[in-house]
Amino acid sequence: MIDQTAAFAGREIFRIGYGTAQLPRLRDRRTEAVALVRRAVELGVDHIDTSQFYGPDVVNELIHEALHPYPEGLRLVTKVGARRDDQAAWLPALSPAELRQGVEDNLRTLEIERIDLVNLRLHADDHGNGLGDPTAEQLGALADLRAEGKLDLIGISNATLAGVRMAVDLVGTVGEVQNPYSILNRSDDETLAFCEEHGIAYVPYFPLGSAFTGGPKRIAEDPVISRVAEKHGATPSQVALAWLLHRSERILLIPGTSSIAHLEENLGAADVTLDGEDMAALAEVEQAGTPHN
Ligand SMILES: NC(=O)c1ccc[n+]([C@@H]2O[C@H](COP(=O)([O-])OP(=O)(O)OC[C@H]3O[C@@H](n4cnc5c(N)ncnc54)[C@H](OP(=O)(O)O)[C@@H]3O)[C@@H](O)[C@H]2O)c1
Repeated sequence: MIDQTAAFAGREIFRIGYGTAQLPRLRDRRTEAVALVRRAVELGVDHIDTSQFYGPDVVNELIHEALHPYPEGLRLVTKVGARRDDQAAWLPALSPAELRQGVEDNLRTLEIERIDLVNLRLHADDHGNGLGDPTAEQLGALADLRAEGKLDLIGISNATLAGVRMAVDLVGTVGEVQNPYSILNRSDDETLAFCEEHGIAYVPYFPLGSAFTGGPKRIAEDPVISRVAEKHGATPSQVALAWLLHRSERILLIPGTSSIAHLEENLGAADVTLDGEDMAALAEVEQAGTPHN
């Protein structure tokens, strides 16, 4: 049986949290969106991953409506480094002034004075794709905000291994690395190993493979995953998430969903115990091809 909890941001949390990137799909069904967030917390979620730019500008409001005043012990994590244009396209926003504004916007809309963790969200190109490297100036801007008491921990997202190393060198404690990783995409193994060595939480995004490239469907249709799922009376999604929990004790999950049924299913992954034979079989699952899947 794997550990269902892990140390994160100063306390022991449930290893499956909730990522809110799918909530904007419920923007016209606000009551459902609020109910989904409340259900997550009711079921034991105490780690919510968000951003001001999700929506755009909708998700933090929904979290606030659902949970404020926030339950004791809830860990709220955000990310800065991007903004959206009039058509909701993603644009970089990585200047020190934009990073500061990003943190201030999150504090305002979540109505808190200090946030548990802020990820510096990097990219290699101007469309937000590809792993990127931070600059000393960007890390310095977040370190200043930390010194001012506006955030507890600095994290780094969508970063190369060299970028993660640089963050550790420049800001000391790094609270998490949030990179794409799943049973369909293990291209970030080296960074995961670095996090294990340095005791840094590794929080994979796209944990079911990216929905943009059909990840959840591939997982549902994969014969190896389905065989293991049948053996455990679980679903293929639960096996893919359980694989991550077994892959490393440093991994914390934040699967995103707009559905209460999927939320409940995903949280159930904590009860799926994989054995050595399952892990060996799952190691053979075909990779999705490109690092960003
Ligand atoms: N740092 C970054 O750059 C970055 C980038 C992307 C995401 N994130 C964070 O990481 C979180 C996790 O990513 P994500 O999971 O939202 O990635 P995603 O691949 O964009 O979305 C998850 C997809 O999986 C589906 N899904 C969820 N549970 C399922 C289940 N049990 N069975 C079948 N389909 C299921 C969802 O559809 P339904 O809504 O229908 O369930 C959705 O289409 C995000 O919510 C966000 O907080 C960070």
